[in-house]
Amino acid sequence: MAIRIDGKALAAKVKAQVREEAALLPRKIGLAVILVGENPASKVYVAGKEKDCAECGIQSFPHKLPAETTQEELLGLIGVLNADPAVDGILVQLPLPDGLDEGEVINAIAPHKDVDCFHPVNVGKMSIGRPAFLPCTPAGCMEMLKEYGIHVSGKRCVVLGRSNIVGKPMAMLLTAADGTVTVCHSRTKDLAAITREADILVSAIGKTGAVTADMVKEGAVVIDVAMNRDENGKLCGDVDFAAVEAKASYITPVPGGVGPMTRAMLMRNLLTAAKAHLA
Ligand code: GUN
Repeated sequence: MAIRIDGKALAAKVKAQVREEAALLPRKIGLAVILVGENPASKVYVAGKEKDCAECGIQSFPHKLPAETTQEELLGLIGVLNADPAVDGILVQLPLPDGLDEGEVINAIAPHKDVDCFHPVNVGKMSIGRPAFLPCTPAGCMEMLKEYGIHVSGKRCVVLGRSNIVGKPMAMLLTAADGTVTVCHSRTKDLAAITREADILVSAIGKTGAVTADMVKEGAVVIDVAMNRDENGKLCGDVDFAAVEAKASYITPVPGGVGPMTRAMLMRNLLTAAKAHLA
């Protein structure tokens, strides 16, 4: 039976560290949070991030904009926030409503305020092992592995999903930690044969029940990044938790696994940004 990785407890520990260090700075850390439109999931995520800021003694500056906001208006706001010395980090909650160009919006954020680590400059720095920030979700996964004494070096790692936010940077961080990494996606052939090789399996597909017990090697470490709803509307991940828990050595629950860690790593990035701004 697998050990459950307690993301909630570790996130509390990370946030307590951030709070302690933030209190030593000569001014409050500031996060600008931009939410465009009425996506219900995004509203929940943004509320969570604002709560985390309050817990860490970080000032949040909410900008809730209507779905009809134009690209020019959004870029104008980012320009103002880039120049605002009270703002250490700028977070534009994704996805943006149709008609807005996400790539252009991300490009407009000053890299030194890009606490999501989505800007091409920061993605590039990470890819050559000179990170300014680490992307929150993959960094949260790495932190959980570290906390539980799970070594990546030499291990076979399989990442399911190739998104810019999770799959690709996750593969980069596992590679940087000397894992042997395979990235699988919707076009991968004979997926189960590949996942069964994994010592560390990270799933970021976004499909309930996508990872079944027959796809998992006995004793594997299973990290479930997804936030799906099952047929009863209950929050769940990609992994068939009950069956895989019986086979894995470590497993992250949903909720209470990766989600809280993503949020905690954002707080850590804000501390990093503020320290650089104050140096
Ligand atoms: N949408 C889903 N995850 C994220 C995230 O980590 N940051 C932002 N800005 N938007 C998201």
